[in-house]
Amino acid sequence: KTPAKFHITDSSLIRSIYQPRKTFAHKGNFGHALIIAGSTGKTGAAVLSTRACLKTGAGLVSAHIPRQSLPIIQMAAPEAMAFPDAEDHYITRMDYEPDDFSSIGMGPGIGKELKTRFLLRELLEKIKKPLVLDADALNIIAATKGYLKLIPSKTIITPHPKEFSRLFGDTANDFEKIELASSKSMEMNIIIALKGHNTFIAHPNGAGYFNHTGNAGMAKGGSGDVLTGMITSLLAQGYTPEQSAVYGVYLHGLAGDLAARDRGMESMIASDIIEHIGNAFK
Ligand code: APR
Ligand code: MG
Repeated sequence: KTPAKFHITDSSLIRSIYQPRKTFAHKGNFGHALIIAGSTGKTGAAVLSTRACLKTGAGLVSAHIPRQSLPIIQMAAPEAMAFPDAEDHYITRMDYEPDDFSSIGMGPGIGKELKTRFLLRELLEKIKKPLVLDADALNIIAATKGYLKLIPSKTIITPHPKEFSRLFGDTANDFEKIELASSKSMEMNIIIALKGHNTFIAHPNGAGYFNHTGNAGMAKGGSGDVLTGMITSLLAQGYTPEQSAVYGVYLHGLAGDLAARDRGMESMIASDIIEHIGNAFK
């Protein structure tokens, strides 16, 4: 096994990843992203990830949401298309071909209903592309026997430390957690963004990236949902899964830093991170 190589996500690395939009580009050049998110009482998670996905540059964005969330998402994100589920309160059924999308991000606010669990299994078994999995998608995987091994190659998972422990077990300290993230990434051929202050991104080739953007103003419900939308958007545009994770985490933190500068750490909320994605790109 090759020893892990650690890096810092600095602005020169990010500049080397960034692909400028070509003058004659059309929306077809930037992919079609699908966000699968929300359940009754957590429609906000779907709104935040869908809006963040739109604001990060995908050509088209669709949201698969519970049926009762349809008017909410269409009001809050009119630029996005929506696939309302057959069920009112949570997500149960794919009325589309998942591989028709350039990228899919699933998890924010979906809950852990049995039918949602089955849908996640169907998606994991069917999809031929890497996914972005977060929040309750990860909690379902951690709680359901046999799901972990179904995660497609090069999928990006974005656990916070508790979700990480549910998936891979407890560790004695942060050093061990980073070691474990790196070894699981290599073993499962997935990208792991272990979120926190200085999010750590493990690549399946053994490389690891520490991010230095972001601040304690982002320690609020909804910040993670924004990240899921951003990474899904970058993946749709043709960035590799490794690039999407590194770039997404950096840009998310930078947007958070700009939001904190404008609004203050106490007052900034997840929507303010979304509002500052544009300046973070600039
Ligand atoms: N410094 C820098 N970044 C931070 C800090 C900090 N002190 N605190 C939080 N962040 C960033 C993290 O790096 C991460 O990108 O904010 C984001 C927080 O993400 P989550 O922990 O997933 O929190 P959030 O999505 O807001 O939680 C909402 O998601 O995981 C589920 O069930 C969970 O109810 C929760 C829901
Ligand atoms: Mg979260």
